[in-house]
Amino acid sequence: MQISNSVESKLRELASHGKTLNCYIYDTREMRNKIIHLTDIMPAGVEVFYAMKANPHAAFLAAALEADAKGIEIASLGEAEKAVAAGFDASRLIYTGPGKSVEELTWAVEHSLRTVHIESLTEAHRLNGIAAAAGKTQDILLRINADFDIHEAQTTFSGGSKKFGVDEEKLSSVLPQILALGALNFRGLHVYAASGVLKVSDLLKNCELVFGMAKQIEADFEGVLCDTIDFGGGFGVDYLESEHDFDPQAYADGLKALIEQYGFAGRTFFLELGRYLAADSGWFCTEILDIKDSRGKKQVICAGGINHFRRPAALAINHPLAIVRLNREKMFDGQETIRDESVYFGGPLCTGADKLANDVYVEAADIGDIAIFSLAGAYGLTMSNIEFLSHERPEEIVLS
Ligand SMILES: Cc1ncc(COP(=O)(O)O)c(C=O)c1O
Repeated sequence: MQISNSVESKLRELASHGKTLNCYIYDTREMRNKIIHLTDIMPAGVEVFYAMKANPHAAFLAAALEADAKGIEIASLGEAEKAVAAGFDASRLIYTGPGKSVEELTWAVEHSLRTVHIESLTEAHRLNGIAAAAGKTQDILLRINADFDIHEAQTTFSGGSKKFGVDEEKLSSVLPQILALGALNFRGLHVYAASGVLKVSDLLKNCELVFGMAKQIEADFEGVLCDTIDFGGGFGVDYLESEHDFDPQAYADGLKALIEQYGFAGRTFFLELGRYLAADSGWFCTEILDIKDSRGKKQVICAGGINHFRRPAALAINHPLAIVRLNREKMFDGQETIRDESVYFGGPLCTGADKLANDVYVEAADIGDIAIFSLAGAYGLTMSNIEFLSHERPEEIVLS
């Protein structure tokens, strides 16, 4: 993968300081453009939220604010506080995720969040008690674990036995109980099928399924309207550079057709996107500290491993890799190099799980060069084992 001139020149400047290089570089212009583009092409009623779990760094929140994202999808009080600090009014936050504590739900009610997404009957009762005690009514969406599974996705959130939402087949018994809770205002459904989906038709199938559920609810329960429907996130990123990028225009066209088909014009639809918005705004850059030949295969040891970039190991994929050559002086004769071969990249941690990439082709690299893993803006540092072995935290450098 080609690295932009601005990233490469920043790295060369950092390398000239002489300190071991191990950092994230962020340039959020692409994220801003994506939010603006999506907002532009989506059918009327679709609102684009940034799922900040993908990258909670202030630069990403600032990009979402500048691009006029409708708001932020949060999944903890910590995320809520960061979003508010970045300039998002609490009324622009939607709150998802299983296992919200009393303190978190109390904060949500006190700050009148746009919607709280109910994951179970227990949570509905807990929130209702808190809202009733505060003399308030809280808008909610009910999250459903649909009987639908996108097999090819990197991570699935519905289908089978899941910790997310209420099983679809229990809807007819659970919904009346939720509707009876006086301090909750039912606005509609949240069905999030899977993350990292590249096939538009798979995600549209999920939309169609939710529309069918909404219709059924409205037929079964007089006076109940699903005026807000949340499709979750899931727009994928082509980590394998297989030229199968997610096509947002095809999604927008397909969704528009479904909205017309179901007569749902005038309703509100949430997209809470993380990966697709943030991935190509970040690079994990780490110095090659050692190269050794182990029984015929080169082992490349970098300054940072899964403590700083866990995603490739967690999902068993290679991110696109580039090398910035620094032509450092060799320390001794016979020092290993890499020339035109497939190798293993790991970090400095004392575990075999510390993998950054495996069987990855490298044209040329030497000790002291910088390995750059692209598409690291989403689920990079934030989902890494940062405390393990107590290495220094990588700097997060913002270009723009
Ligand atoms: C509830 C919820 N919404 C949105 C997202 C963002 O998903 P993605 O990064 O696939 O867009 C996630 C990811 O786990 C999620 O759990």
